[in-house]
Amino acid sequence: MEKKQEIAASVAAMFGEATTPDPASQPEQPTGRTLHFEKVHRAEPAEAQSEPQEQPAPAETQPQPSAEPLISMRGIRKSFYIGQPNELEILHGIDLDVYPGEFVAVVGESGSGKSTLMNIIGVLDRPTQGSYLLDGVNVHEAADDELARIRNQKIGFVFQTYNLIARQSALKNVEIPMLYAGVKPAERTRRAKEWLERVGMGDRYKHQPNELSGGQKQRVAIARAMVNEPALILADEPTGALDSETSRLVMDIFHDMHEKYNKTIVLITHNPALAEECQRVITLKDGLVVDERKGAGCCGTD
Ligand SMILES: Nc1ncnc2c1ncn2[C@@H]1O[C@H](COP(=O)(O)OP(=O)(O)O)[C@@H](O)[C@H]1O
Ligand SMILES: [Mg+2]
Repeated sequence: MEKKQEIAASVAAMFGEATTPDPASQPEQPTGRTLHFEKVHRAEPAEAQSEPQEQPAPAETQPQPSAEPLISMRGIRKSFYIGQPNELEILHGIDLDVYPGEFVAVVGESGSGKSTLMNIIGVLDRPTQGSYLLDGVNVHEAADDELARIRNQKIGFVFQTYNLIARQSALKNVEIPMLYAGVKPAERTRRAKEWLERVGMGDRYKHQPNELSGGQKQRVAIARAMVNEPALILADEPTGALDSETSRLVMDIFHDMHEKYNKTIVLITHNPALAEECQRVITLKDGLVVDERKGAGCCGTD
């Protein structure tokens, strides 16, 4: 149906064709026909959560009380097929646990596999080998439909290139994840406006992307990532195209999402200073985790 195709196209555009993995292993983008919504360990909406601990604790020193990792990866490998029998292994065995409420940075040189890893964390792509549990769901056993639903309900994506739909207002862009989730129009508008307000874009909701600056576009993209109240925000170089002042502003919004709304955030960044603000900094090199340390953000807020 037209409407469903439109939604599917909008959702696909949100993920950007730039992230397209090899066709052989590419999961289907969500389509309108997968609109069924039984709850799968759905994370509590942030507002409804009562916070038992005073301050978030770094995972490696104090595992989060009663928390299972939101992301649990063991031995994740990813290969791409580059012409008939040739396989190119990009990730060579990644172990990673991220706990609810953590703010983790992933750094590493260009080509080290950060985006490949993020696509796997975000179930935009499947690993070639290894195990991955996302909020307790074994991603290997999940059908493409279920992965699409998990993406929509549990994960908010933010990309360097914003991936906004060109001829749609900020408001309509923010509504896209809710369209897919089957939220009624009035509620969609209400929630989209609310999130645009929260990222300081309340007065620009009618503007189309070409009428917005890079920083403003990214704020719209963050509102879009947040609007379904996902447990996890995945951001791939969200400040990569922004000047330092605007990067600061965008980074402050991520801190806000982390602190006020208790989101778990995995942030890929080239900017060492921004990475340092996170609770944990993971360094990738040639498809392996070569370093993992606390960032300044681990030691409480000030
Ligand atoms: N679909 C693909 N097919 C073949 N090679 C790929 C594909 N996607 C990524 N790569 C290769 O994987 C390596 C890691 O890429 P990427 O994860 O984008 O790195 P980063 O985000 O750290 O810059 C690069 O050498 C890249 O060329
Ligand atoms: Mg990348």
